[in-house]
Amino acid sequence: MRISVIGCGYLGAVHAACMAELGHEVVGIDVDQHKVDELSAGRAPFFEPGLPEVLTRALESGRLRFSTDLADAAGAEVHFVAVGTPQTKGSHAADLTYVDAAVRGLLPHLADGDLVVGKSTVPVGTASRLGELVRASSGADLAWNPEFLREGFAVKDTITPDRFVYGVPAGEAGERATAQLDAIYATALEAGTPRLVTDYATAELVKVSANAFLATKISFINAIAEIAEATGADVTQLADAIGHDARIGRRFLNAGIGFGGGCLPKDIRAFQARADELGLDSLAFLSDVDAINLRRRDRVVALAEELVGDVSGARVAVLGLAFKPDSDDVRDSPALDVARRLHGRGASVVAFDPEANGTAGRVAPELEYAADVESALRGADVVLVLTEWKQFRELEPAAVAGLVSHARVVDGRNTLDAAAYRAAGFEYRGLGRP
Ligand code: UDX
Repeated sequence: MRISVIGCGYLGAVHAACMAELGHEVVGIDVDQHKVDELSAGRAPFFEPGLPEVLTRALESGRLRFSTDLADAAGAEVHFVAVGTPQTKGSHAADLTYVDAAVRGLLPHLADGDLVVGKSTVPVGTASRLGELVRASSGADLAWNPEFLREGFAVKDTITPDRFVYGVPAGEAGERATAQLDAIYATALEAGTPRLVTDYATAELVKVSANAFLATKISFINAIAEIAEATGADVTQLADAIGHDARIGRRFLNAGIGFGGGCLPKDIRAFQARADELGLDSLAFLSDVDAINLRRRDRVVALAEELVGDVSGARVAVLGLAFKPDSDDVRDSPALDVARRLHGRGASVVAFDPEANGTAGRVAPELEYAADVESALRGADVVLVLTEWKQFRELEPAAVAGLVSHARVVDGRNTLDAAAYRAAGFEYRGLGRP
């Protein structure tokens, strides 16, 4: 199939490269010349394991190219819209400026029978409005095909996702759209990936409901962590125990400093804003999910103060800045937020992240960044582990003790071996652990 992908951010760049990997002929289009130049040279503008290899293979095969000109979408049969839907300034609603502009910009380049496919996360009702626009202005149609990829697993999640969801119009138009999407995803469908065909509203809601559920699961265990802290229980053992119940499941029950990133925080706020617009208070609980999540950051700051006393003037080693491991993304990162708050209280913060020093440095130039983990640890009065990189888990507690000034550690992700750290002389504090 001939495909265009409008918007080459995280989602679009990965989608374009993976569609070419599957054998399609793809043009990725973005307004940012620098991004287009980087991608055309086979360089991903962000850290994502496996993506550079897929990009290079696809470019060399001649099946993938990038452009800043929307007119280059002409000639493709299917046009994916993968632009951002950021949080609107001053409100929590999703900003649809980029999605609207992409669809409107595509209209003059659409041929009869083309399919526009929305991938961006949007408030329910958007696809229906854009579908009418596309049908009224061209001989093309529109489907909504949400994306569930996780950073760090983006290539795998795109090529072999858990499921496909197609939101399509009713009747024959819907059957045609389904056949077009089936042709694109033929490899995964033949391998047995489930595919659900729904109306527009259901497809839009599947995406935000999935993210709201995941966020709720994390805040649930973090709320239990607060109870554990007050009662001396251990939330990590508790999670293991309840996770054995297949109805609950162990995944996404890791208590710690909470969720961040470019999706979960913004999506739960936008989802609640959309419910408010609809006059429904059904999602009021998501305010608590958000509040519990943000309170965990206060708790880490409080634990650092409990260990050090006044943090002003103390040297604080922050290990981890990305919102999760295997990523250089610091959008809404709890780790970076805690580092900045401690700096704001007068601490001398020295931070290290295997991949995110650069991205963090651009938004938080006030922090000091160490070139390696040892330099961050040297002379520290307290160590905060805030992203669970494997490299931090594998540190030898005795070696860490040999570098720091005071053997104190706050394990913001419950990722360290508490007993081993205590045996090496550390005062250890986890979240929701005695
Ligand atoms: C998420 C969804 O998982 C994905 O399906 C959707 O398409 C986009 O949003 P992502 O943002 O890449 O993906 O990260 P994810 O792995 O879901 O983690 C989100 C945050 O939750 C991270 O900050 C992570 O550290 C935190 N988390 C996750 C926990 O605090 N505890 C857990 O048990 C799991």
